[in-house]
Amino acid sequence: MEFFLDTANIDEIRKAQSQGLLDGVTTNPTLLAREGGDWRKQAQIICNEVEGPVSLEVMGETAEEMINEAEDLSNFGKNVVIKIPMTTEGLIATKALHKKGMKTNVTLVFSPLQALLAAKAGATYVSPFVGRLDGISHDGMELISQIRTIFDNYEFPTKILVASVRTPLHVLDSALIGADVATIPFKIISDFVKHPLTDQGLATFKADWDRLTK
Ligand code: E4P
Repeated sequence: MEFFLDTANIDEIRKAQSQGLLDGVTTNPTLLAREGGDWRKQAQIICNEVEGPVSLEVMGETAEEMINEAEDLSNFGKNVVIKIPMTTEGLIATKALHKKGMKTNVTLVFSPLQALLAAKAGATYVSPFVGRLDGISHDGMELISQIRTIFDNYEFPTKILVASVRTPLHVLDSALIGADVATIPFKIISDFVKHPLTDQGLATFKADWDRLTK
């Protein structure tokens, strides 16, 4: 399973990279707005810094507008993935960009049929938002499982990119189901390594070693 960082913050990206935790990055307008400043400069820094795929989102409403924005965004680097909203126009744009050989990430996916449509349009990634579904008392993980079954049934190459991750359990369950990627906030990914029994075990080993060698 690949780990993407769900952020537009360069310090978080650098830290995750130095810890060997970074396979790619997903941004969105909210995450870029959180950083402030010139979004183009920020996007350029991220694309230069990250080796793996970087999702940058289009904001146009028509397919034509999205395709034009995609051409612009692709100038930020070879690793750019065009993030496109799950709308009829978005699907038209996804198909057109697929034909041009450009990578796409269809975002704001909340149902298995939306994921199927995105895969049929040739999306590289599909982003189901599990946390937002859980937040309205729907089962985000069931959606991942249904998408996995559909993609396997028809051998779609589209990757399942689990988004709106709120807890480490979202990542664990996604890995057990066989999702391809999870995009994770920095705070959550840095908690994966921690376990109280690891700390306790290490403290005991250190104390025993000190007794032995001093
Ligand atoms: C994914 O690409 C999105 O940026 C992200 O996961 C959105 O999730 P959230 O706004 O619900 O946290």
